[in-house]
Amino acid sequence: MSKIIINKKIERFNGNILIPGDKSLSIRWVLFASLANGISKAKNLLKSEDVTAAINAIKKLGIRVISHKNETIIYGKGINGYKYKKNIKINAQNSGTLGRLILGILVDTPYPIKILGDKSLSKRDFKRVTDPLSKFGAKFILKKNHNLPLTINGSSNLSSINYIENKGSAQCKSSVIFGAMKARGTTIIKAKKSRNHTELLCKYLGLPILVKKKKIYDEINIKQTKKIKTLNYNIPSDISSSAFFIGLTVLSPNSKLTIKNVNINPSRTGIITILRRMGVSIDFKNEKIYKGEKKANIIIKSSKKLKAINCPPKLNSGAIDEFLIIFLIAAKAKGVSFFKNLNELNQKESPRLEWAQKILNKMGVKTIIKKNSIKIFGNPQLKINKEIVIKNYLKDHRVFMTSVIAALSFGGKWIIHDKDSINSSFPDFLKVINKLKNND
Ligand code: S3P
Repeated sequence: MSKIIINKKIERFNGNILIPGDKSLSIRWVLFASLANGISKAKNLLKSEDVTAAINAIKKLGIRVISHKNETIIYGKGINGYKYKKNIKINAQNSGTLGRLILGILVDTPYPIKILGDKSLSKRDFKRVTDPLSKFGAKFILKKNHNLPLTINGSSNLSSINYIENKGSAQCKSSVIFGAMKARGTTIIKAKKSRNHTELLCKYLGLPILVKKKKIYDEINIKQTKKIKTLNYNIPSDISSSAFFIGLTVLSPNSKLTIKNVNINPSRTGIITILRRMGVSIDFKNEKIYKGEKKANIIIKSSKKLKAINCPPKLNSGAIDEFLIIFLIAAKAKGVSFFKNLNELNQKESPRLEWAQKILNKMGVKTIIKKNSIKIFGNPQLKINKEIVIKNYLKDHRVFMTSVIAALSFGGKWIIHDKDSINSSFPDFLKVINKLKNND
């Protein structure tokens, strides 16, 4: 069991960093490229266990993949090009995105396919995707508590559906979009706002999709798809991985950081809106549109005065993976911050609302949790002088990385177990930390 010990705060820094490719875009690129007619190439594809699991999944389905150091090549065989065999097992490991999205693609498998996951993924809810995918005509064998392992049995007679997605889950929405591509007719999805990478990729690829943006919901119409073009993609950096370094800069006195070439799709920038409202200085420079997605350099300065926030729930889905780090910043803000309607936070790699409370309480920060909300009693003078041990958190990569940022920002002696948890999204996390430690 690997653990790290941190007993020293980071010193002021002023630097530039590069963060690896976006995880959501990397997994989507692998899946779309596997369904395209021909060769697709990606640069800056995230090299992490979640993405490797996606590559291994399509390889099992007969798709050739070549991974070079700086380039990944996928030889797609068309939307109906997977080679299905008896007894295929796909291990989605830690990745909810892979486990859920691939089920949408497998709605027409002629043989049963078993989907497995690691300990964390095997506890997560899959009924949220098997319910709508069943309406297309696919069949599932699920355990009583609707999690993994499960078996999908497809149908050659799939018809379009009407589906209301009301959790704000991009994974559910995307899974149904993939299913819709294989179903006769037009599928209509009414989806609560969530990250829209799948829709943007569909549009960029010229697929038969129409998105009508409404205030709270988007209406997505998608027709059966015959052909998908190849896609060469230079994947921008992940704002969710950047969030740890945004947090570290905000919490480290007299520091400044530039993070280059980050995806700033507005459905992902909830953390920026929330932190600006808390008084943080964050700027975007060199904004560009790349293949339908926004990207920019992010410039952050440390904050002398952080204000508490009463966070409007409409910002939740755009910050859903960043709440642990946002809560850490709230711990240093003046006043009581309030975050509500966070039921989806306990559906992640670990029950994250519970973990937020555990970490903050260990740090001596008062919190009140009620059902799906948390109040954080901030303290601008917060310093830690004791030993804190973080373990048994289902290897949730974001719990590990948040704990490292807390240790480097607030002091104390932290013993953080399961260092390998970072491999699912950000294997070089500690290397980037070390770069900043040696940088002024
Ligand atoms: C993801 C969607 C989000 C997010 C996850 C990645 C995606 O999950 O938490 O890390 O790539 O679609 P939900 O869609 O379940 O909210």
